[in-house]
Formats: sequence, structure tokens, C-alpha cells
Amino acid sequence: MNWTTEKRYLPYDKWPKEVLKQLQKQAARSKYQMHYHLHPISGLINDPNGFSYFNGKYHLFCQSYPFGPVHGLKSWVHFKSKDLVHWKYLGLAIKPDTMADSHGAYSGSAKTIGNKLFIMYTGNHRDKNWKRVPYQIGAWMDKNGTVQDKHILFKNPSHITEHFRDPQILKENGHYYALVGAQDSVNKHGHIDLWQSDDLKDWHELGFLKFSKHNMGYMIECPNLVKFNGKVILIFCPQGLDKKVAEYDNIYPNMYVIGDKIDWENHKIINSGKLKNLDDEFDVYASQAFNAPDGKVYEISWVGLPDTTYPTDSENWANCLSQVKELTIENGKLMQRPVPAMKSLHYDEEKISRDFVKNNVSGQYELKITIPANKQGTLHLAANEDLSQSLQIIFDTENGSLTLDRSKAGKPVSVKYGQSRIIKFAEKKELKLDIFVDHSLIEIFANDGEHVMTGRYFSNPEDQKIVLDKNSECQGKFLKIKSIL
Ligand code: FRU
Repeated sequence: MNWTTEKRYLPYDKWPKEVLKQLQKQAARSKYQMHYHLHPISGLINDPNGFSYFNGKYHLFCQSYPFGPVHGLKSWVHFKSKDLVHWKYLGLAIKPDTMADSHGAYSGSAKTIGNKLFIMYTGNHRDKNWKRVPYQIGAWMDKNGTVQDKHILFKNPSHITEHFRDPQILKENGHYYALVGAQDSVNKHGHIDLWQSDDLKDWHELGFLKFSKHNMGYMIECPNLVKFNGKVILIFCPQGLDKKVAEYDNIYPNMYVIGDKIDWENHKIINSGKLKNLDDEFDVYASQAFNAPDGKVYEISWVGLPDTTYPTDSENWANCLSQVKELTIENGKLMQRPVPAMKSLHYDEEKISRDFVKNNVSGQYELKITIPANKQGTLHLAANEDLSQSLQIIFDTENGSLTLDRSKAGKPVSVKYGQSRIIKFAEKKELKLDIFVDHSLIEIFANDGEHVMTGRYFSNPEDQKIVLDKNSECQGKFLKIKSIL
């Protein structure tokens, strides 16, 4: 398909119904499709949106372009869940059907207010000359899942360019606040712009949030603030960030800082720390977290990156979401862990010890492995007979490193940004890995969530062997996982 601008922005009702059905079938039968992670019903998905708890259930939306593997006219699709693992697909929630979101219902957030869910998102409008006008929009979802009363809340003030999007709505001390990704008109630098309202109708700007002495590249997308006991975490995606400010390998990073608290009046994070990568792997972006009523902080990410193509583009679908992770701060460190309901997906279990080899492994499983101190070895996943093809997890507990290498795992992805990622740990210490595989997605939780490594890989579907190096001396479990999505 030749994806002209005209085609990408064709209104949904102008597409023949048959096209959508065909695309749905194609996405469903792909060998690379996920079976326990949220994935596109058809076409492309990106950022998680509106992650919230409403009317006794968790709600999650995400960016969707249902007609192909490209970033076209975006809408929100809706899922709900009791346990953050089993999700029910509820279809289209926000269509790009008003002047203000005519060229896409872009990312945003949601918060329960009274007996409704208040949704705040960016309407992407283009004028006759294709100039972008970003509107921050409010809307209300009722208990039946119907989104109504879309209305413009505010536009970009003149000191901010057309790059002004992805509002996160928060309530504190009786006031509503919004964090919005922005680019200033003068220096064209990336910022997080704070806004305040007392009634969700009249909004005024507080100013750019101060959280680092460094310049944050040319744009910040998807800002997100969550609170812990005595700490806050700001999650965001700086684009064009100088690698001298913080190291990263992907085209754009998804970063965070930990601080003590937010001072709204002076729009500042008190004692904000170093910029860190939220995930140490290939494909995490636009993560969204929220403070849930059970006192926990949950987070979910887009497993994909902007301006990046993936091998399933040729099958007309692209991307997926990560599993939901619970965030905590322990000894000043961010920890990310699977939610308890992930355990309900297991249906079979086998012990792993030295020389573990397993043939004909379907692409859905979890591996829990403990690697003793001072060991080196490789765990090959999706391997062929002679191990010339595999997704390699290379560990070295003597020197404290863990590498994920996808260079021999089938179809190449984003080779320009490197085919392996490495993380460092304390030397001469045991290393614990909890590895989740879902066909073309791998999520590695290292040392009980101290690091998470998330990535896509596109190995030959016939390569189904798991091999643990002879010298590894690891112990653990292999757990089969059910298909639920
Ligand atoms: C991030 C992003 C957001 C925007 C959305 C559009 O991936 O570019 O800034 O709102 O995607 O789909």
C-alpha cells in the first residue's frame, strides 16, 4: 500500500468494512502475534492512554490506527480488567470526529471524578495549510463506556509551538493539574508545561516544570507523575536529548527522575535526581503510570518506538503493549515487578538446572532463573538446532553484566541503533532473572525488578529451542503460559 497523507487521514467511515475485517484476520493469524499482551486487533497501536480505575475496574485505552501499520488518523481503543492481566476489548472509545481532533485523538490520561471518568487528551487538528493546531480536550465517559461531551479546554499559548500534547490530569489539595509535553517557541527546547484548574473548565498556565538543569532536547512527549510515600517519580520521553546528559541507545528514550515532591506553585520538583532509563532495552516508549486506589502504582508501556518500522509491517499490523508493572521505590531505587495476577496464567511447570535444553517450545512462557555468582554463560531462546540462530541472553555474574542480543534472532530491527543492549550489576553476586516471552516480545525482570529489559524480536517461527549453556549452573523454573488475548 502506498501510504499517502490522504490515505492515512481518510475518515474511518470512508474505508470499506471488508478492509477492516481482512486486517483483523491478518493480525490474528500472525505467528508473531502476542497471546497474553495487549496487541492491535488490526493495524497499529502505540501509547497507552487513560490508564485508570473506574467503576470497580481498571481501564486502559491506547492509541490506535486500525487501517494499517502506519501512524495515520489516531483514535483511542478501550480495554477493561479486574486484575490488570485479563483484559476485555471494548472497541473504539474516542473517534477523531470533531474539528479539534480532526487529525487524530492523540494521547492523554483519565481520572475518576464523581460517577464518571474524566478524559483529557490532545486533539490534533491541521488547518488548510496543514499547519498543526493542538487542542487540549476534556470529555466524560459514563459507566456504559460512552464518551461524550468533548470540549476544548485550552490551546497552546504563544510561547509554545504546535508541539504541545499528551496531558496528564492530576488532583492535589483540591486543585486539578495537568502536565503537558511542550516545545518552547524561542529556543525550540522540550519542556513539561504545568496547568491548573479548580473546576476542570477554566485552566491557567503555571509554567514549565523545573526538574533538571539540563536542556531536554527539542520535545518532551508523554509526561507522567506518580506519588509514593515521600517521593515522586516523573516519567517522560525527551526527544533529541544530548547523550552527554544521559546515556541511551534507542532513537528516543523513555526516562524518569525520582524527586521528593512537586512544588506546584513554583512548578518545581524538589530534590530531583539523575535522569535514568525506565527500561534498558530496545523498544519501550510512552509509558503511563497512575496511583491506583489500592495504594499501588501501576505502569504500562508501548512496546514500540516512534519513527521505527517493524517486520510485521509487511503483515499490516504493528506493535503491542507491555505487561502491567507495579512500581515501588526501595532504598531510593525504582523497582518494577509483574502484578500478582500474572501467576494465574501458568498451567505447567518444569525444573531448570544445568544443561537445560527444551525442544518445540511454543512462543509463550516464563523462565525464572537464578545464576550463581562468578558464572558466565548464554541462554538461547527461539534457537535453531546448531544455535546459529537464537535470541541470546548473555550473563556474566563475575563482572556483573547482562546482555540481550537480537542480532541472530531472525529478521533485523532498527540495526542502526545497535542489536544488543547491556546492563551492569554488582560484580560477583548471584543474578535473578524472570523472563517472559510472548512470541515476538521478551520482558526480562532482573534482580526482582531492579532493571527491566523489554524488546521485540522476530525469529524464524520454526526456531523453537531453548538451550542453557553447559557451564551455566543455573537453577530455576520453566512455566507455560495460557493464551488469554
Ligand atoms: C508518542 C506520541 C504522542 C502523541 C501520540 C500520537 O508516541 O507521538 O506524543 O500524542 O504519539 O499517536
